[in-house]
Amino acid sequence: MSTKPAVFVTRKLPDAVTARLGKSYNAHLNPEDKLLSPADIIEGAGKMDADALLICPTDKMTPELLQALPKSIRAIATFSVGHEHINLDAAKARNIVVTNTPDVLTDATADITMLLLLGAARRASEGEKIVRTNSWNSWGTTYMLGVHVTGKRLGILGMGRIGQAVAKRARGFDMKIHYANRRRLPAEQEQGAVYHASADEMLGHCDFLSINCPASPETYHFLNAERIAKLPDGAIVVNTARGTIVDDAALIAALKSRKLSAAGLDVFENEPKINPGYRTLDNTFLLPHLGSATVDTRNGMGFKCLDNLDAFFANRPPPDRLV
Ligand code: 8YV
Repeated sequence: MSTKPAVFVTRKLPDAVTARLGKSYNAHLNPEDKLLSPADIIEGAGKMDADALLICPTDKMTPELLQALPKSIRAIATFSVGHEHINLDAAKARNIVVTNTPDVLTDATADITMLLLLGAARRASEGEKIVRTNSWNSWGTTYMLGVHVTGKRLGILGMGRIGQAVAKRARGFDMKIHYANRRRLPAEQEQGAVYHASADEMLGHCDFLSINCPASPETYHFLNAERIAKLPDGAIVVNTARGTIVDDAALIAALKSRKLSAAGLDVFENEPKINPGYRTLDNTFLLPHLGSATVDTRNGMGFKCLDNLDAFFANRPPPDRLV
């Protein structure tokens, strides 16, 4: 009878993480990376009397699922910093400890934010397509002109770890940083960025808007038609947070009318079934949620899941406990 804690893993993990997991845990893995239904998770965890789950944002931890989980489950580690897929109140009601993976993905996500910002401003998607489709006929002084980035105003919605990392990179482009956040940052973190107590009030100062706040009922469809109208004409929107923060119909309309010059998007509502309206817009730079998709970062996220589970099963406080 293994004394190692039993962990039910819902998705395929990076090899280095799987190797470490196998040393300390009796793990049920998902090497085919088949998307599991709530019933699969409940049954699979029950069969092995799992003590914990290691999940991903594709696994919706609803109150119903959390209630139906085997009584043996005492911890859930999510392979993500975002946790809107977990009903934390219901987990708490079941005395299930929940942890996430902050910090390790901050740099990768901030890097991709700058990629999307530059790609959208400088029409990278169009340009790429022209070269790949061999439709580059000539050069001209007004050919494929984009939007200048250096020295422009960047508004950051949500100045947490990732927002601050974006600001740090944008300063490298001499961008003027504005931010809106639930609380004003201490001066050493603010580093001269202009704080706006009201996100609505910040919008008028944004040549570029970067969305880096969590998805929540408060931020649901924050960027709607009314707020887009407050942005300067020709502004550019970047989203590496969550698709639900943007009203797709409003953003697509503003891109079509050229109220907005362009958008760089890594996340979408109902992804991967994104609003098809984005696909045909040439003034968009679109990625399939690659924010944290580097080998180092994904290994780091997996190791953080295990650090949290190691602490939990050693009766130490998990470093990244949410509830
Ligand atoms: C994940 C992320 O890759 O950690 C998060 O919250 O958004 C990314 O790191 C993503 O959640 C996978 O769906």
